[in-house]
Amino acid sequence: MEYSCRDKSWWDNINWYNKHLCEYYNIIPQEALKLGTRSTGRTPSLPGSKTCKPVLGLTYEDIWDLSPRKTEEEIFKFYKDQGSWSTFRQCVRHTDNLDDHLKLFEPLFKNNMHIVEYGCGIAPFLFTLVNSIPNPREINIDISLTDVDCEHLIFGHWRMGKLLKEKKYNNYNLYLKPVDPNKLPTYNQKIDLAIVYEVFEHVPDPIKVAENLRNQMNPNGLLVENFVKHDQDEEDDGPDLLSARIQRTQYYEYLNTNFTLVLGEAEHISPSGTRIWKKK
Ligand SMILES: C[S@@+](CC[C@H](N)C(=O)[O-])C[C@H]1O[C@@H](n2cnc3c(N)ncnc32)[C@H](O)[C@@H]1O
Repeated sequence: MEYSCRDKSWWDNINWYNKHLCEYYNIIPQEALKLGTRSTGRTPSLPGSKTCKPVLGLTYEDIWDLSPRKTEEEIFKFYKDQGSWSTFRQCVRHTDNLDDHLKLFEPLFKNNMHIVEYGCGIAPFLFTLVNSIPNPREINIDISLTDVDCEHLIFGHWRMGKLLKEKKYNNYNLYLKPVDPNKLPTYNQKIDLAIVYEVFEHVPDPIKVAENLRNQMNPNGLLVENFVKHDQDEEDDGPDLLSARIQRTQYYEYLNTNFTLVLGEAEHISPSGTRIWKKK
């Protein structure tokens, strides 16, 4: 990839969006960009931090293959074993999508909301939203960040705390709500908006996750979700879990029964599309 051929506004974005990343790992934006840019067979030298060890000389697939990944404990440990891999990848990847975050989120946002970003990693959507609200001192917002126990969740939570302070929000709660193996999270208050972006394909039981969120939603609560569909062999298991893939049709039946689709195309028209649903 040619790093220099981007325009100035893109470099402004990479500097702004990744400044906390550079602080946390003590690196420069150009290095962050390299560490977070995808290419086939890459084995990046990922730096450690005060919360993770370095990971060196391994592909993503090698990390998956480090140990058995059958039980929830073993599968969840994959996200810990990868150190800062997804922190870099998610930050760099979302640098290209900042306008899309706002287009999706701004019309849904109201004062006094409890928003959950589920499978949040670095919490890309809430980070852009919190950064762009024009009058932070007048806003009440409650944020819950959920992922498995991993470096990208720790970093995302740290970065969100910093941003809320930098922007001088007066009235907020920021909750860290990890998922433990075989135990879905319980939130401190009812949910108004849950965003689950590129996550359902990785969870062992997507219907249980959707049900758990719905059960804790206010009336008319909103769910923003997608469920990425790759062309894969029936038997393939990896970070895109076979158990999730098997449930896909039933999962959309569950959503259609328990929510109303308010934005986005039906699954059969746009399998990996982003949809917004309202609780029935
Ligand atoms: C493709 S990334 C998407 C991250 C983020 N939502 C984004 O938009 O960049 C998938 C995320 O799902 C998380 N994840 C994997 N298994 C999970 C589980 N069982 N429960 C919650 N999150 C999970 C991963 O740690 C990772 O952050």
